[in-house]
Amino acid sequence: MVPILLEGLKRLEYRGYDSAGVAILNGTLQRVRSTGRVAELERLVQQQALSGAIGIAHTRWATHGVPSEANAHPHVSGGVSVVHNGIIENHEAMRRKLRKQGYEFVSDTDTEVIAHLVHANLASCGNLFEAVRRAMGELVGAYAIAVVCEGDHSRLVIARHGAPLLIGLGDGENFIASDASALVQVTQKMVYLEDGDCADITLERVRVVDAKGGMVERPVQVSQLSAAAVELGQYRHYMQKEIFEQPMAVANTLELVTGAGTVLPQLFGTDAEGVLHGASSVLVLACGTSYHAGMVARYWMEGIAGIPCNVEIASEYRYRISVPDPKALVIAISQSGETADTLAALEHAKKLGHEHCLAICNVPESALVRATDLRFLTRAGPEIGVASTKAFTTQLAALALLTTVMAKLRGRLTPEREAALLQALRHLPSALSTVLHLEPQIRMWAEKFAQCQHALFLGRGIHWPIAMEGALKLKEISYIHAEAYASGELKHGPLALVDRQMPVVAIAPNDVLLEKLKSNLQEVRARGGELHVLADQDTKIIHGEGMHVIRMPDHAGMLSPILHTIPLQLLAYHAALERGNDVDKPRNLAKSVTVE
Ligand code: M6R
Repeated sequence: MVPILLEGLKRLEYRGYDSAGVAILNGTLQRVRSTGRVAELERLVQQQALSGAIGIAHTRWATHGVPSEANAHPHVSGGVSVVHNGIIENHEAMRRKLRKQGYEFVSDTDTEVIAHLVHANLASCGNLFEAVRRAMGELVGAYAIAVVCEGDHSRLVIARHGAPLLIGLGDGENFIASDASALVQVTQKMVYLEDGDCADITLERVRVVDAKGGMVERPVQVSQLSAAAVELGQYRHYMQKEIFEQPMAVANTLELVTGAGTVLPQLFGTDAEGVLHGASSVLVLACGTSYHAGMVARYWMEGIAGIPCNVEIASEYRYRISVPDPKALVIAISQSGETADTLAALEHAKKLGHEHCLAICNVPESALVRATDLRFLTRAGPEIGVASTKAFTTQLAALALLTTVMAKLRGRLTPEREAALLQALRHLPSALSTVLHLEPQIRMWAEKFAQCQHALFLGRGIHWPIAMEGALKLKEISYIHAEAYASGELKHGPLALVDRQMPVVAIAPNDVLLEKLKSNLQEVRARGGELHVLADQDTKIIHGEGMHVIRMPDHAGMLSPILHTIPLQLLAYHAALERGNDVDKPRNLAKSVTVE
C-alpha cells in the first residue's frame, strides 16, 4: 500500500506541495510527515520501512498554519488519523469546545479539529463510520476527509462537502483520492461522491450514505484518463510540455467542428439552442487565467455577437451586491472545475435568479460541470503545471465557438462570415505551431527579463487581457513584479514607473488600434523605456535602439489573442528557468484552489 500512496501523492503533488505525510495501520498507527516535497517524505518512509494494507496520505497547501511538520497532515487524535482538503470555518469554536473536553492541540491547523471531533464521537458511539457522520453534522465549511482508526484495521471512512472526493474500485481492494489522476495507476473505475456523502470503505466493498442518511448507489464511471497523459515524457517540465501541446489541445477542443460546415448550438448541450437564443446578456464568472479568458470573450461577445457581456472576478461577485438580470446566461469558466470561488459565485448567481448556466471546463467529472445545465468540455488533457497554459488557449477556442453560435442565433453572421471563421479555427493549430517556433528569440528576451525586478505589459482592446495574462504568467513563476495596462492608460499614471530598468512588453497586432498603440509606444521610448514588441507582419514597427521586435505571423483577426498568448507563456517559462525557479510548482501557490 505504501508505494501506491506515494505514487498517488507524486501525481497530485502539483496541487499542493508545502508538506506531505502518510499514516499507515500496521498493528499500531504509524505516521511519517515532512516539510517540502514528496521525494523527501519517500526517503523518510523508506528509512522507517513503513508498510501496511490500509493508509492515508496527503500533500498540503497551507491555509491555517505555516508549512511545517507539525501542521502537515495526517493529523491524529488518539488512534484516529485524518487527512483533509478544504477549510473548516467554525474551527475556532470547535477548538474551544474540544479544549473544554480535555483535547490538546499541537498544530495551528483547522484539520486537527476534525481528528479530535471524530475521536470524541468514536468514544461515545464506538463506530468509526457513525463518528464521522456525527462530525459532519458539526463541521461548517468545505471538506473532503479520509479517516482511519487504530482500533479498526478493516476500514477507511471518507466524507465530502464542497471539495472533490472519489473512490477507485479495485479487485479485492479499494482506493480514495481527491482526483482521478492519483488513481489511474491502479484502476480506471471511479465513483464520484456528492456533497454530504459519507462512505465506509473496506477491501471488499464500498457503502455510501447521502446527506439525509440513506444508502445510495453512486454511478461507476470508467475514467478516460490514461496514466501516460499525466507523465512528463520527453519534456523537462510540465509547463513546457503543456505549452508545446497547445496545437494538439486546441485541435482536440475544436475537433467537433473541424469537419463541419456550420457550428451548431448543440455543442453546448442538447437544450442550448433555446437557451442561447433567449439570453438577453452574458455574465462570465471566473478566477485568474480563466478570468482573462472571460475578458477576451467580452470583446468577442459584444463586438461579434452583439450581446451585452459582463465579466466578474468570482471572489468579488459572490459578495458584491449586484443587480441581476435573470435572463442573462451565466458562463462559469474554470480549468479544474473545482475552484471554490467560481463554484460559490455560480451558486450565488443561481440564488439571484439566473435561469441558465454554462460551464466551460477541462475536467468532465468536476463539480462545475455537474452544477450547470449547459457545458462545453475543453479537451486540453490534464494540466499539471501550476501556471495555466493550454487550458487558457482551449478556453479561448471554446469561447470563439460560442461567440460564433451566439452571433448566428442573433442574425449577425452571414454564411460567408461563418465559413471564414470556421476556416480560421481549422487553421489555428498550425498557426500555433508556427508561433511556437519563435522560442529561441523569446529565450533571448527572457535572459534579460530574468535580471529585472519589474516589468510592464501593454495591450489595447482585445489584447489588453492578453497583456494581463502575460503579466500573471511572469509574476506567478518568475516572481518578477509585473503589471499589465491597457496602453491608453499609460499616461494616466503608470508612465511614471518607466525607466531603463523596467522592460516594457507590448502586444502589437495589425488591427484598428495599431496607430494608437504606436503612439503609446513612443511615449515609452521618449522616457528611455526598453520596448519588447510582439508585432504582426506589416505593422512597420522596426527593430532599433530600445526597440526589440519579435515578428508574429500575419494578423489572425478574431483569433489573434490566442496566438499572442504563446510568446508570453514562453517568456515567463524561460525567465523563471533563468532564475532557477521551480517552474511547475511556484512558491506559495497550488494548482487547484478548492478553498476560499
Ligand atoms: O481551475 P481554474 O481555471 O478555476 O483556476 C483559476 C485560477 O486559480 C488559475 O487560472 C490561476 O490563476 C493559474 N495558476 C494561473 O496560471
